[in-house]
Amino acid sequence: MRILTGIQSSGRPHLGNILGAIAPAIKLSQEAGNESFLFIADLHSLTTLRDGESLREFVRAIAATWLAFGYDTTHNTIWRQSRVPEHAELAWYLNCFTPMPMLENATSYKDKVEKLGSSAVSAGLFTYPILQAADILLYDADLVPVGKDQRQHIEMTRDIASSVNHQYNSEVFVLPKPRIDERIMTIPGIDGAKMSKSYGNYIDIFQPANELYKVIKKIKSDSTPLEDPKNPDTDITFQLYSLIASDEQIADMRQNYDNGGYGYGHAKKELYELILMNYATERERFDFYMTHNDELEKVLREGEEKARAVARQTIERVRTVMGFN
Ligand code: ADP
Ligand code: TRP
Repeated sequence: MRILTGIQSSGRPHLGNILGAIAPAIKLSQEAGNESFLFIADLHSLTTLRDGESLREFVRAIAATWLAFGYDTTHNTIWRQSRVPEHAELAWYLNCFTPMPMLENATSYKDKVEKLGSSAVSAGLFTYPILQAADILLYDADLVPVGKDQRQHIEMTRDIASSVNHQYNSEVFVLPKPRIDERIMTIPGIDGAKMSKSYGNYIDIFQPANELYKVIKKIKSDSTPLEDPKNPDTDITFQLYSLIASDEQIADMRQNYDNGGYGYGHAKKELYELILMNYATERERFDFYMTHNDELEKVLREGEEKARAVARQTIERVRTVMGFN
């Protein structure tokens, strides 16, 4: 099966992105019979990020994260969306098959208008789902692993693809299915709200150890005195610890909370140490790619060639049915 997913380069990946999206996508890519296409949606991130230097850094950080977590680029593909111009070309064709009301009804667009007012919303943000549809249809993807918030975008992709197939009475596009893991909970940030770049409440596991510890020490906790027993089930540090610890480690920490005489500072220190230990290899590989730009660039360029070869075939098919060649 062909798996495809993209991650916007609007920030450095955080623990929520890693546990919610990156690790599951890599797992799927390792299953027998699957071939994965994972890309960096840098064109999409231009809807919110206009600083070129930051964009460059975030693109590298996302690529380095995929590689640090063991994405095998010999059997799979990784590339920058902006380096494969067929994404933008296909998006134009799809623009002409997308009814305005479909875009007007998109939840993500309506949310932005409500928050920022319509004059602050660009046409790029309005047509965002069309570029996303192009990303998916360009590679004949069967399955698209995404978070719950992306369900509507995949439905729109299917609608647009069906409309083209129907118009030309041929199987121009493969209709993709979303893979949404309902069990993956929303990972909380250090303030207890959803961990997100935009809320500034995230944990960046690739930070230098002392900075990482500073962030972890800021995790919100209540004012139960050190000697008293504490409720692990309402505590953010315990929740985060449980996401990455073994069953035995979780049981031990739960016992400590129940017993009392164990402060939130202790729990935070354990969480910090566990992150350093569990992700030691990933942290090392991440640093390697962030400091060896040539290596990273090489992997991305190879990926871009592979991606482009597939994208060109689809574009030829589309150009032929539409009458452009
Ligand atoms: P952010 O909210 O930080 O901007 P994105 O919207 O770019 O994150 O999300 C990229 C991917 O990471 C998506 O697939 C999304 O579902 C997943 N993701 C983001 N935040 C979380 C979270 N707190 N818990 C679980 N998954 C998350
Ligand atoms: N919109 C997705 C997000 O914000 C990112 C994305 C862009 C994507 N193109 C895609 C995801 C194609 C899956 C398939 O998370």
